[in-house]
Amino acid sequence: MPMIKEVDYGTPVGGGPGIVALEVDGISVSVPSGTSILRAAAVAGVQIPKLCATDKLESFGSCRLCLVEIEGRRGAPASCTTPAEPGMKVRTQSPKLSRLRRGVMELYISDHPLDCLTCAANGDCELQDMAGQVGLREVRYGYEGRNHLDAGKDESNPYFTFDPSKCIVCSRCVRACEEVQGTFALTIQGRGFNSVVSAGGKDFLDSECVSCGACVQVCPTATLIEKTIIDRGQPERQVVTTCAYCGVGCLFRAELQGNEVVRMTPHDDGKANHGHSCVKGRFAWGYATHKDRIIAPMIREKITDPWREVSWDEAIRHTASEFRRIQAGYGRDSIGGITSSRCTNEETYLVQKLVRAAFGSNNVDTCARVCHSPTGYGLKTAFGTSAGTQDFDSVEDADVILVIGANPTDAHPVFASQMKRRLRAGARLIVIDPRRIDLVRSAHVEASYYLPLRPGTNVAVINAIAHVVVTESLVDEAFVKERCDLASFEQWRTFVAQERNSPEAVEAASGVGAADLRAAARLYATGGNAAIYYGLGVTEHSQGSTMVMGMANLAMATGNLGRRGVGVNPLRGQNNVQGSCDMGSFPHEFSGYRHVSDEATREMFEEAWRVTLQGEPGLRIPNMLDAAVEGTFKGIYIQGEDLVQSDPNTQHVAAGLAAMECVVVQDLFLNETANYAHVFLPGSSFLEKDGTFTNAERRISRVRKAIPPLAGLADWEVTMALSNALGYAMNYKHPSEIMDEIARLTPTFAGVSFEKLDRLGSVQWPCNDKAPNGTPVMHMEGFVRGKGRFMITEFIPTDERTSSRFPLLLTTGRILTQYNVGAQTRRTNNNIWHEEDVLEIHPHDAENRGIRDGQLVALISRAGEITLQARLTERMQPGVVYTTFHHPLTGVNVVTTEFSDWATNCPEYKVTAVQVRPAARMSEWQERYRQTRDTNARLLHETGIGGD
Ligand code: SF4
Ligand code: SF4
Ligand code: SF4
Ligand code: FES
Repeated sequence: MPMIKEVDYGTPVGGGPGIVALEVDGISVSVPSGTSILRAAAVAGVQIPKLCATDKLESFGSCRLCLVEIEGRRGAPASCTTPAEPGMKVRTQSPKLSRLRRGVMELYISDHPLDCLTCAANGDCELQDMAGQVGLREVRYGYEGRNHLDAGKDESNPYFTFDPSKCIVCSRCVRACEEVQGTFALTIQGRGFNSVVSAGGKDFLDSECVSCGACVQVCPTATLIEKTIIDRGQPERQVVTTCAYCGVGCLFRAELQGNEVVRMTPHDDGKANHGHSCVKGRFAWGYATHKDRIIAPMIREKITDPWREVSWDEAIRHTASEFRRIQAGYGRDSIGGITSSRCTNEETYLVQKLVRAAFGSNNVDTCARVCHSPTGYGLKTAFGTSAGTQDFDSVEDADVILVIGANPTDAHPVFASQMKRRLRAGARLIVIDPRRIDLVRSAHVEASYYLPLRPGTNVAVINAIAHVVVTESLVDEAFVKERCDLASFEQWRTFVAQERNSPEAVEAASGVGAADLRAAARLYATGGNAAIYYGLGVTEHSQGSTMVMGMANLAMATGNLGRRGVGVNPLRGQNNVQGSCDMGSFPHEFSGYRHVSDEATREMFEEAWRVTLQGEPGLRIPNMLDAAVEGTFKGIYIQGEDLVQSDPNTQHVAAGLAAMECVVVQDLFLNETANYAHVFLPGSSFLEKDGTFTNAERRISRVRKAIPPLAGLADWEVTMALSNALGYAMNYKHPSEIMDEIARLTPTFAGVSFEKLDRLGSVQWPCNDKAPNGTPVMHMEGFVRGKGRFMITEFIPTDERTSSRFPLLLTTGRILTQYNVGAQTRRTNNNIWHEEDVLEIHPHDAENRGIRDGQLVALISRAGEITLQARLTERMQPGVVYTTFHHPLTGVNVVTTEFSDWATNCPEYKVTAVQVRPAARMSEWQERYRQTRDTNARLLHETGIGGD
């Protein structure tokens, strides 16, 4: 589609209750009360000149360009700061207004470089537009007076430049950083002529700036502008699509010249992001065309052989014949497949269909196994649906926000900005986390209570909060009576009321002060609408599912479900982790979370797919790897997941893969798992395919092809070709046909189609006859399972205990600028912020071990040892260390253990007993890894394929 500029209405939509009717230049218009005259005029189709105003920000009234005349009033007020009133008659054009506006523009232009023709913003500059709109023909003051034309550029940020010589000091950037992003990195320093925009007196790279780009987007001049636009020029076409990084699911306009992306601009119509973004989605897309992309299929006999490039046809035929050979020799269940939460719903659905229908087993699993599988289990048990209860916008009605085991400012940045807006507007915050995350205290946000618990004691803490609710008569009895299963509630009430669950009783184990815990519990139960947001710090534990049920219990007991502003909300990690679970990627479930043993469901799929299906659940990822080591599992098709880097106990994963006879990896890059692969099938990036992603709020959004697949085929086409080669016919012409099949076979998706998504923008499932436009908030009338079910959540300490040998606890997480195993972000300029994983350690623990900041240290657990740099920080509590897992050479999962959630096998990444001591060199594993990496690079090089 050609470039279409989004209409800027000048100020945000008015929030008043009534409707105001007025006239603008003789045109009648009605707007919500509280709407500015500027916006009312725009609604009427009248564009009043403006510079400091934009509909993304509250009005400011500094440029004086938007002046109007109002019948019966004196003077010429600024239309952006004057609210529309009933019966007003507004005039936007008159000789006097023209004179005043031209005078304003003259002043701006007299202190502005006259380089429009060579300026990168030429054609996309509001200053230029306004000069034209007000009819500026001369600048009476000349250009010789005092000016800022020699001000030096700040090019420190890898993605945008700041050229103060072009700044008109409209403050839009400062306000965007405050109002939209909530970082408060910018200020206007100085007064009058000396006013300049400042990033805290530093350059942008060293400042508090988190590179969200909101300031760049609102800047009306070329002062703040993307380097890609400077380098390549303005875009000529655009495709609306969805970000492929995190579970927020931001909508973007991919702006292109030919088939080259030149800018990603967050879309105002994005219902999850409302025109905002983070550094990853807006700027870190260069990986899609990185030279490391493998764009031809490759095969090899042994994993020590060089790769051989082959045609798609040969790669598919070879894979099919290997899988059939293995099944003939070792049985039907000796192969399986892994779906990807990076891929679309349609692609994921096809892989699980391939496994069930063409492989003939239920040996399919997904990377959600290692992140949010306990969410599915826990929420389904309590409420009847394996998904979060609210939409993101619901947070705007929350009075108390409880964040547990999540770090939204790093992991879900756009939602974090929305949450922070609500907190600045008065909502109270409780944070429960072993690490003092930024949200605990940041600009204009401070948690009322921060409970720094010991890793592994979530369940003890949630039970103690529930104990306070129950014993201090804070239960919402009416809600429980009407909405919940009373027998299970009574059992639970008796259980949590026991003294051993009191804050005082769990204080020693959890490390959380009883008084703070009691106060936080009272705030949650009595502070109005209370909403829980949680992340992998809840699920990646041996009691991950128990904790999810514990939070569900608490929300039900306090009546915090079934309306806006409340709920239990998982902050999903990857872009389509919700979708990959919805699509039937787990070995025990068809799409829509229906058990494979359910005969009616199975018969429906058998009839639709014309094949006999198995009624027994298949193998989970850890079971597949165990079976491989034991010699019974021999072949695997892995689409878009790097098992070796992302799964726990790396050495065990590697041993499992090395024991297989045919490992097929489909990915953008030769990832760590590809070191063990016999077939490599090139994957396609989100820019190269059509389909849908489902975000953390169950929102299904379109992914649209912006450029053709670099390797010639999109992932769904590859899966389909493999299925056909295996003898099970698939014949889809377009991903929309796959969605149509999903809708036919999945009640919660019954009303979903590409046509509807294109029409409505997005929908949240359930979307069916009962809710044709989707369901923003679930369980409004009653729980999906009928009555909400309370579960007993006994705290059972993990078997992973500290000891004199391993006296510290390691917990892991991720940071803003890198993403998961880093395959994408490491291939962008984001590396400037996080070149390597470091170990955060409390200064006391460091001092006890003779460790200095920046020193190389060994991190040792009973599973393995790695070496990395230490960073001393009081963000950590004594006894707990923390690192990220973005860089393969760090190999963090060499030290994590095989312990996992009792219900779902989700690994216990968040608790590993470790020792830390000074080190002089890389660990043995890291040396071996480096050698393997170098060997593989050599093998690739010998093949002439390139790569790292
Ligand atoms: S940098 Fe841009 S947005 Fe900021 S004050 Fe200058 S012109 Fe306005
Ligand atoms: S990029 Fe974002 S965080 Fe940085 S200054 Fe601009 S608005 Fe603030
Ligand atoms: S918040 Fe998530 S979805 Fe949005 S731009 Fe950032 S990474 Fe992409
Ligand atoms: S746009 Fe109204 S004062 Fe600037």
